[in-house]
Amino acid sequence: MFQTRITKLLNIKYPIIQGGLAYLAYADLAAAVSNAGGLGQVTAMSLPSPESLRNEIRKVKQLTNQPFGVNFAIGQHGRKFDHMVTVAIDEQVPVVSVTGGNPAGVIDMLKDHPIKILVLVASARQALKAQELGADAVMVVGQEGGGHLGRSDTGTIVLTPHVVDQLEIPVISSGGIVDGRGLMAALSLGAEGIEMGTRFIATKEVQTHMNYKQAILSADEGDTVVIKRSLGTPARALRNAFTDKILSLEEKYGNDYEQLKAYISGEVNQKYIQSGEDSLGFGWAGQAVSRIHQIFSVKELMDSIMNEAEQIREKWSQKEV
Ligand SMILES: Cc1cc2nc3c(=O)[nH]c(=O)nc-3n(C[C@H](O)[C@H](O)[C@H](O)COP(=O)(O)O)c2cc1C
Repeated sequence: MFQTRITKLLNIKYPIIQGGLAYLAYADLAAAVSNAGGLGQVTAMSLPSPESLRNEIRKVKQLTNQPFGVNFAIGQHGRKFDHMVTVAIDEQVPVVSVTGGNPAGVIDMLKDHPIKILVLVASARQALKAQELGADAVMVVGQEGGGHLGRSDTGTIVLTPHVVDQLEIPVISSGGIVDGRGLMAALSLGAEGIEMGTRFIATKEVQTHMNYKQAILSADEGDTVVIKRSLGTPARALRNAFTDKILSLEEKYGNDYEQLKAYISGEVNQKYIQSGEDSLGFGWAGQAVSRIHQIFSVKELMDSIMNEAEQIREKWSQKEV
């Protein structure tokens, strides 16, 4: 009913992709999203070793026979990731998504395999580069989004059509989308699918301390902040005492990574995810936190998005707006 080049490319029922979610997106979430008709993904860089990635992929395969993806945030960890990509190839995963750095190396490794390649970008320049390198589609994330962002502070509503107009391959819109209204808006802008990150955190299948989910439910507009801007790698998180501390350190030390690294590492993010303790770390989240009011199962979430989108389409077809 909502067939696009993306649903055909990825062989999925609904044009909804679950974004890579560091330390949150494991087999249970990925399989639930894929079983509900979207594309679920396991985040490779949250896993300690190639073998643990292999186990996680095998777990997804046990839980679903639907297509799923493996996400590589290649720039974030300074770790060698070729071995991880080799596991994704060995295990013949249907889709790989890449972000956070130059995707050329990963695309090169994948190109002779029947694996669809998505590249997450935050500008038209990166999108054109991804297309030139051989990506099958790009996901373009606006500055509303949770986690790492582009440097231009451009919102999803401007960035999506800007990229769509310059590309031949299909575009997936991301950043600030949580419901059927967001899906219909993205399709109107010329995107052929949506990617969501923050919305999926408030689902039953995600394993994290309840405080993180609760903080998302109670957050209002303005309750997220962009950290790491001084380092040239801006990223959006829920505002808490820890992010206030990071911002004050950024003001003091500018781009001095050595002074900041203890406060912005993946370990600190993990500590918050596990403990829900504001004094110990931070949790990534996008501006759309103010629009999330309920914890759903993944299936309830996906169905509610598609029902709402369908209702809007019906209304439009009757020339009611
Ligand atoms: C908690 C969290 C962790 C994230 N981790 C990753 C990651 O590891 N890899 C990645 O490609 N994107 C990551 N992202 C970005 C998301 O995949 C997605 O692009 C973004 O969340 C979209 O914006 P939204 O949060 O408004 O839906 C993360 C986002 C969040 C909220």
